Amino acid sequence: MQQRSIAIDGPAGAGKSTLARALAQRLGYLYVDTGAIYRTVALQAKRQGADPGNAAQVADLLGRTEIRMAYGTDGIQHMYLNGEDVTREIRAHEISGLASQVAAHPQVRDFLLEFQRSQARDHDVVMDGRDIGTVVLPQAGVKVFLTAAPEARAQRRLAELLQRGQQAQLDGILADIIRRDEQDRTRPVAPLRQAEDAVLLDTTDLDLEGSLAALESIVRERLSL
Ligand code: DC
Repeated sequence: MQQRSIAIDGPAGAGKSTLARALAQRLGYLYVDTGAIYRTVALQAKRQGADPGNAAQVADLLGRTEIRMAYGTDGIQHMYLNGEDVTREIRAHEISGLASQVAAHPQVRDFLLEFQRSQARDHDVVMDGRDIGTVVLPQAGVKVFLTAAPEARAQRRLAELLQRGQQAQLDGILADIIRRDEQDRTRPVAPLRQAEDAVLLDTTDLDLEGSLAALESIVRERLSL
């Protein structure tokens, strides 16, 4: 039977992962966080001393990069880099910027494309990222472009980092978010953009509950659930 897929794209800090995970749980679908996959490549580049902005250097290490994803009993998507669980390490603030850099290289995107698509072949999925509706799953049953004002996104990212016990300042986060959005939007390959058939959901003035209710109602209506 054809699996169902829900594509959620949008800029950094729009609440994609929290909302996509909660939606997947409600529907009994698998949640796939594709940003975590790019983060894993970024960590590999950092560890191997490759310049994340240098396509040839990053492409060169892909042959030595084995990425695996598995779901723990905690229901969390764990990422493995050459067999090592790097789930926590890829969340470091520094890795966000590096991930955006490595994600701009076509070789990296090609390397990860089939891996992402295979998840949607095997399961009903809620998949979030930047190019899910436009490139990875153009046939997705529902596409949502989730966004919020940069200031609101920076506030949420700050709260998330502080909760994880990491040090962070609002100004720095806002600047990083704006820089990363610009980088993700203007890259020539698979840039962040709203698919023509995606529904726009702006969560600037919505809290988590309100955002989830809005998202769920869009999805249920489109999929006739
Ligand atoms: O969603 P995130 O912050 O974990 O993503 C990290 C970076 O990975 C983001 O800046 C852009 C890149 N990315 C991408 O290019 N395509 C995706 N489908 C997911 C993430």
